[in-house]
Amino acid sequence: MNHRITVVGTGYVGLVTGACLSDFGLEVICVDKDRDKIETLKRGVVPFYEPGLENLVNKNSSAGRLTFSNDIKAGIENSDVLFIAVGTPPKENGSADIQHVEDVARDIATYMNGYKVIVNKSTVPIGTVRLVEDIIKRYQKQPFEFDVVSNPEFLREGAAVYDFMHPDRVVIGTDNERAVSIMKGVYRVLFLNQKTPFLFTDPESAETIKYAANAFLAMKVTYVNEMAALCEKTGADIVSVARGMGMDGRIGNKFLNPGPGYGGSCFPKDTRALVNIAHNYGVTMSLIEATITANENQKKRILSKIEIIVGELHNKNIGVLGLAFKAETDDTRESPALSIVSDLARRGAYVKVYDPKAMDQARVRLSGLDNVQFCENEYTVAEGVEALIIMTEWNQFRGLDLARIKASMKKALFFDLRNIFEPGIMRKLGFEYYSVGRS
Ligand code: UGA
Repeated sequence: MNHRITVVGTGYVGLVTGACLSDFGLEVICVDKDRDKIETLKRGVVPFYEPGLENLVNKNSSAGRLTFSNDIKAGIENSDVLFIAVGTPPKENGSADIQHVEDVARDIATYMNGYKVIVNKSTVPIGTVRLVEDIIKRYQKQPFEFDVVSNPEFLREGAAVYDFMHPDRVVIGTDNERAVSIMKGVYRVLFLNQKTPFLFTDPESAETIKYAANAFLAMKVTYVNEMAALCEKTGADIVSVARGMGMDGRIGNKFLNPGPGYGGSCFPKDTRALVNIAHNYGVTMSLIEATITANENQKKRILSKIEIIVGELHNKNIGVLGLAFKAETDDTRESPALSIVSDLARRGAYVKVYDPKAMDQARVRLSGLDNVQFCENEYTVAEGVEALIIMTEWNQFRGLDLARIKASMKKALFFDLRNIFEPGIMRKLGFEYYSVGRS
């Protein structure tokens, strides 16, 4: 049977899910209350930068499989599988605010006209599937049958389309066989190829997997950042150390690149939320708490290293390349680059910045700082600065004309916080070169 899908929420997760499921040949309606967003999407424009997504949206919209609407009632009535992919922003105490999920659950209860499978993709506290079940039972007008499923997403920004199409696993959390069989139908392109592992489990485990995986990855990155700090003192090279560690199949070679600390819309938020969830159950997550603190320390350590090498920051001209929290995205949420730029500017430095995609977002987030200058490219950033800092590992920075950069800088201090250059080559070019975890 061909299922009809409605995805509520057209943020990263919702739009990637909708576009990819329509590319599987399913009919998908993407619904959002934001009228401007829906109008933009109807014109074939994706309101954020995500490689490959706009093409996929246009291809499937033209084929008539993917449509956009503000009408949640019609979306619920006309589909049998309803994905919830709305934001769960952090509250002040770090816990996830699931108000939007609850609102959608009430809408589903109000407008449902038959059996529905409700699939939650938003990152939510453990127990939310049960909560959504309760809301629907409480608010539905007739006792229609339904099942609620947890189906966490593991997409990385910047690689989200690829990740959806080639997942390491698909996790389906439900107690109900009918829902399992419908979810196999929804994911049939992945399920039938035999290569994608599927994990069918209960809702609480599925909800926990999402937080447990993100917190573990945040811890892995933080671990390598702390090792990098040690390597800088001992004379070891973190690149070799990480490679040697990663060759052990039990450790794995991914997520061992040291940097300026993790950021983004997920790791910082999800680690704090997990600590909060555990706290509510009387469990202490000491490793995750230490990870959060160590990640903050990493940003402080980097700033203090820059300060020691550059000297008094007041009135110094400093260039920063990269503002997004990582490459291939325009997202600057919790970006370590923005925290370094703000700290430098607050200490009185003049900071020239450039990012290939994240300038608009960064302008908004850094709007209070007068001494930050947004430049048109890497070379204008380098002109006259005493130090240049690489914050984001964009490929276009790897191809910089370094001789030209060096010639235009006032002093040749170079901080490569993503280890994208070879120390030997940089020194030969005449830079005083500093990277992470390589002495
Ligand atoms: C992360 C997870 O990787 C996804 O699986 C998950 O679906 C997503 O969160 C989410 O919960 O929505 P994302 O935040 O897009 O994805 O980015 P990552 O590629 O995981 O990077 C997170 C941070 O760690 C970035 O600041 C990145 O620069 C940093 N990082 C990552 C490193 O410093 N070193 C590494 O080796 C890897």
